[in-house]
Amino acid sequence: MAEDSTWPDGTLRADPDQKYNTNQFIFSSPMYAAEDANGTHADPMIVVRGLDKTYASGFRALKGIDLTVCRGEIFALLGPNGAGKTTLISIICGIVNPGHGSVTVDGHDIVREWRKTRSIIGLVPQELHTDAFETVWNTVRFSRGLFGKAPDDAHIEQVLKDLSLWDRRHNKVLTLSGGMKRRVMIAKALAHQPTVLFLDEPTAGVDVELRRDMWAMVRRLRESGVTIILTTHYIEEAEDMADRVGVIHKGELIVVEDKTTLMHKLGKKQLRLQLHEPVTVLPDALSGYKLELNGNGDELIYTYDTRGERTGITALLRDLSAAGIGFKDLSTRQDSLEQIFVDLVRERA
Ligand SMILES: Nc1ncnc2c1ncn2[C@@H]1O[C@H](COP(=O)(O)OP(=O)(O)OP(=O)(O)O)[C@@H](O)[C@H]1O
Ligand SMILES: [Mg+2]
Repeated sequence: MAEDSTWPDGTLRADPDQKYNTNQFIFSSPMYAAEDANGTHADPMIVVRGLDKTYASGFRALKGIDLTVCRGEIFALLGPNGAGKTTLISIICGIVNPGHGSVTVDGHDIVREWRKTRSIIGLVPQELHTDAFETVWNTVRFSRGLFGKAPDDAHIEQVLKDLSLWDRRHNKVLTLSGGMKRRVMIAKALAHQPTVLFLDEPTAGVDVELRRDMWAMVRRLRESGVTIILTTHYIEEAEDMADRVGVIHKGELIVVEDKTTLMHKLGKKQLRLQLHEPVTVLPDALSGYKLELNGNGDELIYTYDTRGERTGITALLRDLSAAGIGFKDLSTRQDSLEQIFVDLVRERA
């Protein structure tokens, strides 16, 4: 069998000229299988496989991205400036040409079925650009028409009311403040009732109130079944909002994890005890604790869960004392999601 008649996962390529594998990966991908084994994320909405992107400048912005975003979840994409977040989003949304690899949205290939996938997707872009001389109402209403949807003024009215833009509907966009313009961008993205919504740094430069309103709206959209992918540099927002988190660094997706798992990591705290005398082996009486000795044997590290009912610290100190192990100082350290993120990115620098 000729090499080019199969996909990288070994499945048969029906049409040798077809550039993108549309759906064969869904049930064979290790990432998907792992999710399925946990009984979650059984329904993929966006499937990205082996996606690579090199810009005309020669810069390779994405390196073999594999990602499954499931129907109805809120997925946060984190990463430092220039990591490739906007590139990835722009490819899925059909704004930037993909390089190698495949992307499907609700089972439709983004290249061969671009009209379909674009109609499913709403995008609030990172950069604000609107038809400045138009009114809010016309801008948002026109946006719906662009996707070939029949006018639905009741829907547009609802969107503008939800975003507190109703009173501004007759104002020209150029007369609005930056935060209000961002609301208009969100209204535009929702005008054609997308089932997948991308929010690329929606809260950059936005005041506290809009941020709160925006997240309330995102939650409502999710409750109505919309799949949401967002990027943010405010990591506590991801912690607050996301079901899952992906970290992208220099064009590579280095972590994709359930938020509850991340919260579990967050809940981990370390107690460090500087011992009077170095210890080489810990006594059996302490084998029930999650303990580590540092290289010199003069520091004992106890990892515990702050969310547990008990930390176990009192019992540990008592048992240490009974075992004749004394300490001269102690300190605690907690990993925040931000710390985990910073560590991950630094490790790969
Ligand atoms: N049109 C382009 N031509 C050449 N290089 C580009 C182009 N667009 C983006 N890049 C480069 O690709 C890399 C990824 O950019 P991208 O905008 O995807 O990053 P990002 O993760 O969204 O960053 P930020 O957090 O700053 O928004 C950057 O190095 C950027 O300079
Ligand atoms: Mg960006």
